Amino acid sequence: MAEQLGSLARTHTCGALRSSDVGASVVLLGWVHRIRDLGALVFLDVRDRHGLTQVVIEQNDPLLDKAKRLRSEFVVAVFGTVERRSAETVNTAVPTGEVEVRVSDLRVLNEARTPPFSIAEDQNVSEETRLRYRYLDLRRPTLQHNIGLRHRITMALRRYFDDQGFYDIETPILTKSTPEGARDFLVPSRVHPGEFYALPQSPQIFKQILMIAGFDRYVQIARCFRDEALRADRQLEFTQVDLEMAFATPSLVFEIVEGALAACFGEIGVEISRPFRRMPYAEAMAKYGSDKPDLRFGLEIQDFGPLFTDSPFGIFREAVAHGGTVRGLVIPGAGSYSRRELDGLVEQARQLGAAGLIYARHTADGVQCSVKAVGDESTRAVLAQSGTTPNDLLVLASGAPDAVSKLLGQLRLQVAKQANLIPEGKWELLWVTDFPLFDWNADENRWDSVNHPFTAPREEDLARLESDPGSVLAKAYDVILNGWELGGGSIRIHDRETQATVFRLLGLSDEDARHRFGFFLESLEYGTPPHGGLALGLDRICALLAGETSIREVIPFPKTTQAVDLMCDAPSTVDPRQLRELSIRVTP
Ligand code: AMO
Repeated sequence: MAEQLGSLARTHTCGALRSSDVGASVVLLGWVHRIRDLGALVFLDVRDRHGLTQVVIEQNDPLLDKAKRLRSEFVVAVFGTVERRSAETVNTAVPTGEVEVRVSDLRVLNEARTPPFSIAEDQNVSEETRLRYRYLDLRRPTLQHNIGLRHRITMALRRYFDDQGFYDIETPILTKSTPEGARDFLVPSRVHPGEFYALPQSPQIFKQILMIAGFDRYVQIARCFRDEALRADRQLEFTQVDLEMAFATPSLVFEIVEGALAACFGEIGVEISRPFRRMPYAEAMAKYGSDKPDLRFGLEIQDFGPLFTDSPFGIFREAVAHGGTVRGLVIPGAGSYSRRELDGLVEQARQLGAAGLIYARHTADGVQCSVKAVGDESTRAVLAQSGTTPNDLLVLASGAPDAVSKLLGQLRLQVAKQANLIPEGKWELLWVTDFPLFDWNADENRWDSVNHPFTAPREEDLARLESDPGSVLAKAYDVILNGWELGGGSIRIHDRETQATVFRLLGLSDEDARHRFGFFLESLEYGTPPHGGLALGLDRICALLAGETSIREVIPFPKTTQAVDLMCDAPSTVDPRQLRELSIRVTP
């Protein structure tokens, strides 16, 4: 039977007491974290968000029996006196470890069922169980820390943007589609049967309209919704630190965003060096096979096309003759791989979609290439150009330049992980710039935006917008941390004509454009300042800074990769009456 809290007030949190408090009478409120029943003596660790305090109930104490009936996760009120622990029992692992509380009264405010997993011990619990009982999972010290860090990062960002003159402005959740390349979540309107709101994939159009409305600098910690496949770095709903500035240049955006990220890193005590490195998209793709290169380690992709124009090896020669190339990377320490390890590497490349992978290395009596037809002379030349030492292995693949680099880029990441080539505790921040504006969509016979349709082309490419859209580069930039895309943004189109042309190139008829974006096109006609901005993924920042590999570890109530909230069982069916009200019929 639970006892009452009544008007009882706590004097200290469970993380507060120190040796300077010895002698004080205290009231602690919290959960029973651990019980050590030594027969004549009971030790309790009482826990709250702030920490743990050891409580002692001694032999002959009338409370001993009551203490023995306590179980993990019971909620208790502890009255007692702070005492110094003897030198040999001091616990240096916790800040309260120099003291303990000798109990004078103990109230059980609530009992608890035996939890399906221990809060106190780091057990190997399935993610399914953790998410089903998320309220217990969240009590674990790691998640308490992660959610606390997320709070501190959010507050640091709010302070920073306030200092920089940004207004925090809310934009609608029930709105019209904002295309960011994913499917929309739709919300049926009851009062307008057959019509739907879309949840925002981002506040993109609204933040641009706020620039037209003269707010100069906007920021919002904004929830966004995208119906897309879930991964470690993606959720259906996630949080952006969304910003926009009137009269912005790319360097202003870089400066502001670098300052914001420096403020985030400050929360983990890391000073990052600024300005960040910059790399054009084309270079990132060629050297790392990715638009979000992980620069914590080398293994750069190199081009060897020119060495193979007259190669006796037909596959390489033909590739180069037909606009393709030969690229490769040096794997340090793999020069002594056994036949089985080498076969494994080739198989790994096949799994990534390679037609084949060729390797070359120095041997005791010369050089060796997995394909004899390449010949010793070419093998020597390519080993020399690549800088392969007798300790290393050079792997080569041929094909269209982007495709070969993408393949080798994936292999690069896998090999670096397997061979432990990624240093711990290293932070590599990078701007990737000069993205193409469009990607050709062969299935639908039209151009797609690489970024989103509001991104401005570079001025020097404007003249080719209609005649050669594929060659136009965008004023767009992504910020990358250790191979994760932290954020993306651009300078925007601010004149109606260019915006209408881009919509046309994307296959939108004038009528579609009017139906979907008419209000926005119209707003552009009323004195739109040049403007630009960016959005950072808050979940991703928090995950990386907390040392996690999934954003689910920094989101209190995430969905599984099957898009389900296991705790509250969403999505779920609804009452047929509710569907009727919404004029919705579900067909199996
Ligand atoms: P973008 O689509 O690149 O740009 O998104 C910006 C950042 O948001 C994060 N992000 C996600 N995080 C978790 N789950 C997801 N499903 C998810 N999708 C995106 C990433 C990403 O870098 N309106 C533009 C920004 C702009 O141009 O200003 C936009 O939304 O960290």
